Amino acid sequence: MNFDLEKDPDDAYKLLVGLVAPRPIALITSMDENGMLNAAPFSAYNYLCTDPPIVGVGVTNRPGEHFVPKDTARNIRRTGEFVVNVVTEDIARKMNLCATDFPSEMSEVALAGFTTAPSQIVKPPRLAEAHAALECREYTTMEIGRSRIILGRVVGVYVEDRFVDAEGPYIKAEDLHAIGRMNGLGNYVRTRDAFMTIPRISYEEWKHKNP
Ligand SMILES: Cc1cc2nc3c(=O)[nH]c(=O)nc-3n(C[C@H](O)[C@H](O)[C@H](O)COP(=O)(O)O)c2cc1C
Repeated sequence: MNFDLEKDPDDAYKLLVGLVAPRPIALITSMDENGMLNAAPFSAYNYLCTDPPIVGVGVTNRPGEHFVPKDTARNIRRTGEFVVNVVTEDIARKMNLCATDFPSEMSEVALAGFTTAPSQIVKPPRLAEAHAALECREYTTMEIGRSRIILGRVVGVYVEDRFVDAEGPYIKAEDLHAIGRMNGLGNYVRTRDAFMTIPRISYEEWKHKNP
């Protein structure tokens, strides 16, 4: 089957979220200018480079005639800081509740059963139940069509000690059990089931094996 996204732009979301998968999930905590805390998940997310350390998040405006940004995008524009809480199996259901459109006076953080812990550098707190978190400052926000692409500079990292191999420091990914989002229909993938180790090889090693 072929799809022409210039003719049928509405198919783009459904196709891309199913094909660019699995995706890591950023459960972002941010605050408005009055200190009101917000948490919401985003899977249009990845790290983009490490020098400097930059993560990117794609936030679509709310559907409707006008360009109404989601609370996360609005908060980051106004206060310039946010925290990416890493989503693991044990907090998946709580994360999902944070995507519910609760009335603005209700805090999804508490309703989902999360508690908070202070960040080391930025003002928005991290979620205490998340085993790792990236503290970010807005680097820039690009407004593209009905979406915003937010680039955040990672200024601090929190990882629970038991998930850090101090040698690297590397993350013990096989213990962390991060999850990935699949196709936007509520499907997720675990990372514990088929963990593989495929070391990268140098050209010299490859030549040696392929004379
Ligand atoms: C796992 C998951 C991933 C999501 N990823 C995105 C995303 O990448 N971009 C987006 O705009 N919305 C995404 N959403 C929807 C937002 O989380 C949802 O619109 C949320 O209510 C926004 O909250 P806010 O207004 O508090 O920022 C995702 C939802 C879930 C459950």
